[in-house]
Amino acid sequence: MAMPAQTMSMFGGGETGPPAIELRGVSKVFDTSGGGRYQALRDLDLTVGAGEFCAVVGPTGCGKSTTLTLVAGLERPTTGQALVHGENVSGIGSDVGFVFQNDAVFPWKTVLDNVLAGPRFRGRPSGQSRVDALDWLRRVGLNGFEDRYPHQLSGGMRKRVALAQSLINEPRILLMDEPFSALDVQTRAIMSDELLALWELTRPAVVFVTHDLEEAIALGDKVVVLTAGPATVKEIFPIDLPRPRTVQEIRFDPAFVALYQDIWHALRDEVDVAYSRTTTATVPVRGDA
Ligand SMILES: Nc1ncnc2c1ncn2[C@@H]1O[C@H](COP(=O)(O)OP(=O)(O)OP(=O)(O)O)[C@@H](O)[C@H]1O
Ligand SMILES: [Mg+2]
Repeated sequence: MAMPAQTMSMFGGGETGPPAIELRGVSKVFDTSGGGRYQALRDLDLTVGAGEFCAVVGPTGCGKSTTLTLVAGLERPTTGQALVHGENVSGIGSDVGFVFQNDAVFPWKTVLDNVLAGPRFRGRPSGQSRVDALDWLRRVGLNGFEDRYPHQLSGGMRKRVALAQSLINEPRILLMDEPFSALDVQTRAIMSDELLALWELTRPAVVFVTHDLEEAIALGDKVVVLTAGPATVKEIFPIDLPRPRTVQEIRFDPAFVALYQDIWHALRDEVDVAYSRTTTATVPVRGDA
């Protein structure tokens, strides 16, 4: 399948370095508490170029979060290779930011101290870190909220803190696991636009997991559809919609609607498979992985 022009330019145009992320023939088998084994991923190949925005969709429980944990170094593949910038992932990478589905901010720290946590951990000089943190808080629209605690913020504001907390470290890779799923529809659209604007500032390679196909198409340079578990890549759809994009508006573009239909067609079958497993006695536990 043809790569999108934008992605081509990242690999081409004289850039010869390895992709930001590469999963090669990856499988992941978990030992379960009952002494069994559960295969979450099978023969999964995924490449994300430097600065590329890759959205990942797939039925619930198929293995999306597991895929992110392999890139982050939180888990190792059972077989196959997980590479970041051409190197085998051997631990939690300092170059990788992770925005979780649930709020992962420290409830006992102020907004400013939450954003400062990364630079402090990395031993950066505190004066400069403070300037940077205030800068990022301004960029995510939290100017004036530096001294608040997370419980004094709305859900959308807490997500902004989480974004600033990740982006201040200027990760070259940003992994996002359904980061906006707990937000209402309007806040979610606003946050998506803000994410795109922030992404343009430092251009990390992004893997963005979502259940929302519209969100995936509106944000991504490509949408990767995973199969029902154990997940493998079913199909990759380049999204050649122009940037900059406004997520609320782009969904009225006829090209968007056509993409939605194509991708939904691929995704629907997998959702049906996953759903049918929940309505029958068949549990996808495999001892033969
Ligand atoms: N540490 C683990 N031990 C055993 N099984 C696990 C472990 N982590 C994940 N799994 C199983 O692997 C499968 C894939 O899980 P994963 O969290 O990756 O799915 P997902 O696609 O992110 O689902 P959702 O869309 O609901 O977030 C699930 O059946 C899950 O129970
Ligand atoms: Mg998940």
